Amino acid sequence: MTNDINGPSRRAVATILALGASAAQFVRPALAQPVTVKADVRIDANEHPEGPIAQAVTAATAALSKSNRYAPGTEREDLITTIAAIDGVKPDMVVPWPGSSDPLYRLVRAYSSATRGLVVAAPVFEMAAGIATDAGYKVTPVPVRPSDLAHDVKAMLAADPNAGLYYICNPNNPVGTLTPLADIEWLAAHIKSDAILLIDEAYIDYTPAQKSTALLAKYPNVVILRTFSKVYGMAGMRMGYTLARPDLIKPLMDWGSPSPYMLPVPAIAAATASLKNYGEITKRVEAIAITRDWTIARLEALGYKSTKGLCNCFMVDWRTPAKPVQQAILAKGVAIGRNWPVWPNMSRITVGTPAEMKAFIAAVEAVKP
Ligand SMILES: Cc1ncc(COP(=O)(O)O)c(C=O)c1O
Repeated sequence: MTNDINGPSRRAVATILALGASAAQFVRPALAQPVTVKADVRIDANEHPEGPIAQAVTAATAALSKSNRYAPGTEREDLITTIAAIDGVKPDMVVPWPGSSDPLYRLVRAYSSATRGLVVAAPVFEMAAGIATDAGYKVTPVPVRPSDLAHDVKAMLAADPNAGLYYICNPNNPVGTLTPLADIEWLAAHIKSDAILLIDEAYIDYTPAQKSTALLAKYPNVVILRTFSKVYGMAGMRMGYTLARPDLIKPLMDWGSPSPYMLPVPAIAAATASLKNYGEITKRVEAIAITRDWTIARLEALGYKSTKGLCNCFMVDWRTPAKPVQQAILAKGVAIGRNWPVWPNMSRITVGTPAEMKAFIAAVEAVKP
C-alpha cells in the first residue's frame, strides 16, 4: 500500500528503475506501480515526519540556482571530506550515492550469487533478500535471537558458512533493536576472507555510539551503508553513502550507471549542511525518542506489547493478524507499517510527531484490535 516500505520486490523494482534500462530484465511489471499513501497520518515508511533541517534547506536552495552545472563547485568533495572527518576514515573510503537502495542493489548483485548466497536476519528490511531472490540467488534467513531480538550472528554463520554476503541492519528495521558491536565484530572475524559483511546503518543516527566504523580499519571485507533518508528528512532528495575500501566498491560500477558521479547538487549541499549542523539532528533524535517511548507506553497500557525500539520504529503485537488491523487503522486515517511473514501478528510503527502518535493511539482505541 505504500511505495516506500512495501515488500522486497517493490523496493527492488524501485531501485532497478533508478538504475535504468540495463537492469530492465529484472523488473516485474505487476509490482512496478508507484502507489501514493492517502492518509492524514503517515507512520508507515520509517521516514522523518519533517523535511530537511533549516540549514539544509538553505544550502539546497542556494545550490538549486547553480544546478545548470553538473558540478558548480566542490560540493561532492566537500561532502566526502566532511563525512571522512566525522568517521575518521580516509576520503577514498567514502562514496556518496543517490540514497542507499542503489548501492544495496549493487552490493547484493556483486557479492552474492546462486552458490555464494546472502544471509539475512528474520525479520529485517527485506530489500537485500528481495534483490537476491529476483536474481535467482541463494538466500538464507535466520531468525533474530529470542532473548534480545538482535541478529543471531553465530546462527547466521552456521546457516551458510560459504555465503558471499552477510547483511546486518543495525539498528534493525523493523524491530528497532540493536545488535551488539561485539557480535558484529565476531561475524567480521569469522566469515570467509572473500565474503563481505554489509552493515546497513540507515538508522544509526538514533544510536550513534553503536557505529561500526572502527571495524573498517580492522577487517578488510566490511562495507557500511548509510542514508540521509531517515532522521535527516531527505528521503525524496536521494542521498546516501558507503564506507569501504575502494577496491570493494569498484565492482559495483559494473551493476548500473555511474550514479555516484551524477548526484543532484541540491541534495549534496543539503547533506553536507545537515552534517555541519549536527546539533539539529541530535535534537530530532531526542524528540523522536520521547515520542517513541510515550507511544510504546500508551500501547502497553492498552494491552499491546511492543519491541523495545531504540530508533524511530518498533513492532507492536496485536495478538491477531496484523493485516486487517492495519486496514482498520488506515480507515481511521492513519497509515501504519506492514507486518513480516515471520511475525504475522505484528505491525511496524514509525515514530512521527507527538500529534501523529496521539492520532495513532486514538485510532487503536477506536479499532480495538
Ligand atoms: C534499513 C534500510 N536500508 C536502506 C533503505 C533504503 O533507503 P534509501 O534508498 O532511501 O536510502 C531503507 C529504507 O527504508 C532501510 O530501512
